Amino acid sequence: MRFTVEGPLLNQSSSCEPVLRALPDWFGIEEAIQAYIADMPALPTFLATFHGRVIGFLSLKQHNPHSAEITVMGVHPEAHRQGIGRALLEQAESYAREQGIEYLQVKTLGPSRPDKHYARTRAFYEAMGFRPLEEFTQVWGEQNPCLVMVKRV
Ligand SMILES: CC(C)(COP(=O)(O)OP(=O)(O)OC[C@H]1O[C@@H](n2cnc3c(N)ncnc32)[C@H](O)[C@@H]1OP(=O)(O)O)[C@@H](O)C(=O)NCCC(=O)NCCS
Repeated sequence: MRFTVEGPLLNQSSSCEPVLRALPDWFGIEEAIQAYIADMPALPTFLATFHGRVIGFLSLKQHNPHSAEITVMGVHPEAHRQGIGRALLEQAESYAREQGIEYLQVKTLGPSRPDKHYARTRAFYEAMGFRPLEEFTQVWGEQNPCLVMVKRV
């Protein structure tokens, strides 16, 4: 698949919303989707496009001079496992390094709540060099253990 990656861009929520909505096994809670859509306009966002259609995206939030967070990323399910997530992350890491950022973090569902979909998410981040730091139940509650993963970029 000959996709292109562009970014960072601002104000990308409407172009990314269809990808979020195509991933109900990961983004199934309407309030969470609305929160991502509300946050995204101000966040540097990277887009993967194929024939003019957005098929993947990644948004970054810088927390301090040293670190930033992948607040949300997704690739359309029809296009999984074709290197799009890797390409988005490589462009985001390159931008982060240019900003002097040393660490990227991502919060995702932790392994203490078994979920086959998020097991794939964690496998992706681990393959990309992220390592699990700690699982917290104070972030999203006891039912949704939050695993913080980090990578030195
Ligand atoms: C996680 C996600 C962004 C990965 O995007 P992708 O384009 O499918 O991933 P890539 O093809 O770039 O994969 C890169 C590497 O990650 C690993 N990987 C990716 N998906 C994997 C899976 N399902 N199982 C195991 N390893 C996987 C592999 O090592 C892969 O390299 P390989 O295909 O050469 O073996 C995508 O699956 C997705 O949108 N998931 C749903 C939403 C989500 O989880 N978002 C993150 C929320 S925190």
